[in-house]
Amino acid sequence: MAPQSGRDIAPARGKLGVMLVGLGAVSTTFVAGVENVRRGTALPIGSLSQMGTIRLGKRTEKRSPKIKEFVPLADLKDLVFAAWDPIPDDAYAAAVKAGVLERHEHLEPIKDFLQVIKPLPAAFDQHYVKRLHGTNVKTGKNKRDLAEQLRQDIREFKKRSGADRLVMIWAASTEVFLTPGPAHQSLAAFEKAMEQNDPAIAPSMLYAYAALMENVPFANGAPNLTVDVPALERLAVDRTLPIGGKDFKTGQTMMKTVLAPAFKARMLGLAGWYSTNILGNRDGEVLDDPESFKTKEESKLGVLEYILQPDQYPELYGNVFHKVRINYYPPRGDNKEGWDNIDIFGWLGYPMQIKVDFLCRDSILAAPIVLDLALFFDLAQRARLSGIQEWLSFYFKSPQTAPGLYPEHDLFIQQTKLKNTLRWLMGADQITHLGIEYYEKA
Ligand SMILES: NC(=O)c1ccc[n+]([C@@H]2O[C@H](COP(=O)([O-])OP(=O)(O)OC[C@H]3O[C@@H](n4cnc5c(N)ncnc54)[C@H](O)[C@@H]3O)[C@@H](O)[C@H]2O)c1
Repeated sequence: MAPQSGRDIAPARGKLGVMLVGLGAVSTTFVAGVENVRRGTALPIGSLSQMGTIRLGKRTEKRSPKIKEFVPLADLKDLVFAAWDPIPDDAYAAAVKAGVLERHEHLEPIKDFLQVIKPLPAAFDQHYVKRLHGTNVKTGKNKRDLAEQLRQDIREFKKRSGADRLVMIWAASTEVFLTPGPAHQSLAAFEKAMEQNDPAIAPSMLYAYAALMENVPFANGAPNLTVDVPALERLAVDRTLPIGGKDFKTGQTMMKTVLAPAFKARMLGLAGWYSTNILGNRDGEVLDDPESFKTKEESKLGVLEYILQPDQYPELYGNVFHKVRINYYPPRGDNKEGWDNIDIFGWLGYPMQIKVDFLCRDSILAAPIVLDLALFFDLAQRARLSGIQEWLSFYFKSPQTAPGLYPEHDLFIQQTKLKNTLRWLMGADQITHLGIEYYEKA
């Protein structure tokens, strides 16, 4: 029997403004994709919020509505967009350059729509993204001043677009590796550090701060530290705002978080996992810089450690050699190739190998994630969920968690968590998969 009440959720009335940091391959593929879907020329494949269903009640009840019919999500027709980028190309020019979508089929017909999306000047500093040279950049007397300018952009976009609510998503380049330090521990320290132009404050943190100060949920699609610091986590909780990250889980890591749990479920051992990629888009170029790569590497390496729990299974996972490489290879553009060589062992220690060669399209995998995050973060805000949204770990390579909690990486546990959270929000029964009631009559 379903409980009577769920969470009070404000209706998705009016427009939802999606503010994208970065107007590169992922962002333009997302925006152009939404517009194609709205015009009925394509399907939102890969988007759980649009295509997915959710089972309610017992299997015998045969109730599985679409997620978007079960929870009150914003409708695609109500989305409006804005972006910042240090490169001044509008969304049409940027999409053509990114070379992801077929120009005549998916870009030319919506050229007018895309050309209107012109990037706002970015809070950008080459120190944090070495391989980029931007001209469409804000200037100010210090980092706090830049953050104030971002806040002004947010307010102006809201007014100009008539948006009722906003969400912000970082889909900009991966910044150099940073670790949390004194500047990130409290809001006072963070604000002082902005005023003193402390190098510990990366541009992405200015966007996150500006978003939260303007009551806008913030999701981080790259592995940068950004909103994963105590000062901003606290700010989000204090202002009842959802935040989350890091790093969209798309190709190789998605496969890793499917395969590794399977080995562990069957108690198969792992000797080594060698992952390499060739990638030729701008993201690949940025990641060719060792400092940006280090940020990505940390995000990609963490998953096996948490899934396999070597402390609990030393004979199986105590000595895993895990290597991740990303090689910038321009001829491939956005069409990444990710190879994995996996050395496993079974009964009595006999070795076996698995090879995965994933010829994927990076932004085609990422775009539906941006859409789902925009819609679910907006839902979370309307449901007054605050702080880290662990139920959206499903979308991240390196999910943020409350202090002291280890992240859950297994894709199917993440999916269960996501769907159970939707059931909980709507006051429906949790699905435990026990199923004994089908066999033992009361
Ligand atoms: N595509 C995927 O599968 C995938 C998966 C996980 C994470 N990501 C991450 O998503 C991000 C976007 O990927 P992409 O392929 O679109 O890259 P991209 O290089 O095509 O686009 C990134 C854009 O961000 C802009 N930018 C850089 N610094 C900025 C700043 N401070 N403010 C505003 N804009 C800024 C760049 O000028 C560029 O146009 C990258 O960090 C990437 O690592 C992508």
